[in-house]
Amino acid sequence: MLKDVEREKWGSRIGFILAAAGSAVGLGNIWKFPYLAGENGGAAFILVYLFSVIVIGLPLIYAEILIGRTTNRNPVGAFVTLSNNHPFWRLFGFLGVIAGFSILSYYSVVAGWTLGYIFEAIKGTFYSFSLPTDAANHFNSLTGNPYWNVSYFILFMLLTMSFVYFGVQKGIELGSKFMMPLLFIILLVLLVRSLTMENTNLGLSFLIKLDWSVVRPGTFLLALGQAFFSLSLGMGAMLTYGSYMNKKDSIISSGFSVVTLDASVAILAAFAIFPALFAVGMEPNAGPGLVFHTLPIVFTKMQGGYFFAILFFILLALAALTSTISLLEVITAYFVDEKGWSRKKAVIIFGSLTILLGIPSALSFNVLSNFTINSLNFFDLIDFISSNIFLPVGGFLISIFIGYFLGKEKSIENLKQGSESFFDKYYWFGNIWFFFIRFVSPILIFLVFLRSLGLI
Ligand code: TRP
Repeated sequence: MLKDVEREKWGSRIGFILAAAGSAVGLGNIWKFPYLAGENGGAAFILVYLFSVIVIGLPLIYAEILIGRTTNRNPVGAFVTLSNNHPFWRLFGFLGVIAGFSILSYYSVVAGWTLGYIFEAIKGTFYSFSLPTDAANHFNSLTGNPYWNVSYFILFMLLTMSFVYFGVQKGIELGSKFMMPLLFIILLVLLVRSLTMENTNLGLSFLIKLDWSVVRPGTFLLALGQAFFSLSLGMGAMLTYGSYMNKKDSIISSGFSVVTLDASVAILAAFAIFPALFAVGMEPNAGPGLVFHTLPIVFTKMQGGYFFAILFFILLALAALTSTISLLEVITAYFVDEKGWSRKKAVIIFGSLTILLGIPSALSFNVLSNFTINSLNFFDLIDFISSNIFLPVGGFLISIFIGYFLGKEKSIENLKQGSESFFDKYYWFGNIWFFFIRFVSPILIFLVFLRSLGLI
């Protein structure tokens, strides 16, 4: 099992960066970040978020990529190799694969809505609404229809499977090289449209004018959690993508590019949304409904809104798709590396099983809406377990593994590979990074964890 099998690698450095940025840039950036910023004071939240990205995101993304690249394995194989087959760490690697499976199952339900909304935008449905409540009612009637919800979910899963099926270079890398630039172009077009509306002052000052009075200790934890989720950390996605990375490439600079791209997309998305939103006189604090309830109304009031609405939902779908691809890849890599399955078999079997697991999530908005545990429906429950338990526990144990088991010397030695000239200049960097991984991240993640359980 631990023998060095022939394993695919990224065809280029940029291939890794785009694929990993694709994993990171997702619904979290375009749907969640803007509404969190909207509810938590705009500019101040953005700054707190950037701070969080630096203290938690950067050190941890280096840690994950490092573990993957050092071992050339999926999460289970990676921890088995580095821990000399310790059962605890094997089980931990397995948690990553399970988390990939559960996140993929409900994330794809929401991703399916984005596909459905591309068609709503094309049909011009939004023009029949005048108030956000009209849009909200329409959203509820769509998601309340089990056929609509399940079909778009399955369609989205099939799309995801088709990329992973063709492998690292011919599927994921090629797809990312096409989808990520397209995503950036669409985002820039929407940004320009938003900033050239009349009356953008309100929106811009919301995003630029600092008002610290809205920032509370909880805001930091919220931003830390968001940075963590947005960078796809804690379940081995970055680890798996790192495992296809060439030892000659620099983890330092590639990881930095991924983090920068991810944070830029989140912030640009906020700048594409709020000026337009304020310009048509709407409120920024709509919460999770921002994208599906408020924005359709914004589009109807904007010149060229028909066209920009279609672009916006294509943007969301692209962002989601490059993320679901990385989730399915984690599961696939496990069965390919550890069980010797062919990639195609793993994709078909586990793609189908994910569809089965996701169906109750898709039905939580309609026929299963009354089925609740602790007042959470199936969708909320699996979201809660994955994002609030699996991911923080994953991130915590990854830091503990590097900080206390793999140790400083070995970790920094592997981190240096491919970044020799960087380390010649900034020889202290390894120490600082290790300090963050050993002491800072575990504490911060633990606090985020307690908060997400509602304990602090
Ligand atoms: N980063 C993704 C987003 O912002 C969501 C996500 C969280 C994710 N963890 C992941 C994606 C793991 C892929 C793998 O929407």
